[in-house]
Amino acid sequence: MKMPNMTPEDLVAVAAGARERAYAPYSRFAVGAALLGSSGTVYAACNVENVSYGLSICAERAAIFKAVSEGEQQFEAIAVVTSNGGSPCGACRQVLAEFGYLMPVYIADTQGQFRIFTVQELLPEAFLPEDLPS
Ligand code: THU
Repeated sequence: MKMPNMTPEDLVAVAAGARERAYAPYSRFAVGAALLGSSGTVYAACNVENVSYGLSICAERAAIFKAVSEGEQQFEAIAVVTSNGGSPCGACRQVLAEFGYLMPVYIADTQGQFRIFTVQELLPEAFLPEDLPS
């Protein structure tokens, strides 16, 4: 979905729509994410759980993997929506750091209220691609 000139509020709204598609029969905790690519394309995703619980994937990582699979690797921002404005898990922070350490993360609730942090603020002193010796 090409959506140039997205505001943070717009991105949060797309993430809220993705949250409605969450498959979360085990935790009953629905999460939506919307990732804005530098091309202007928005990648929306939700958490998808599995009866074998450990196979479940978070919304944020689903959004990154969807975007990279579509050929986009540079991102402007991501919005994450939960019922209570909960914060991204550690695994998702690491995956976000891989593709946008300075990227803003809009952490929103279903009322549309959101807080803004960079990935760096959420995961300081991260292990990053440039930390691997070449
Ligand atoms: N979840 C996410 O989608 N993103 C996060 O950052 C935190 C957790 C999902 C995983 C699981 O489906 C449910 O929320 C409860 O942990």
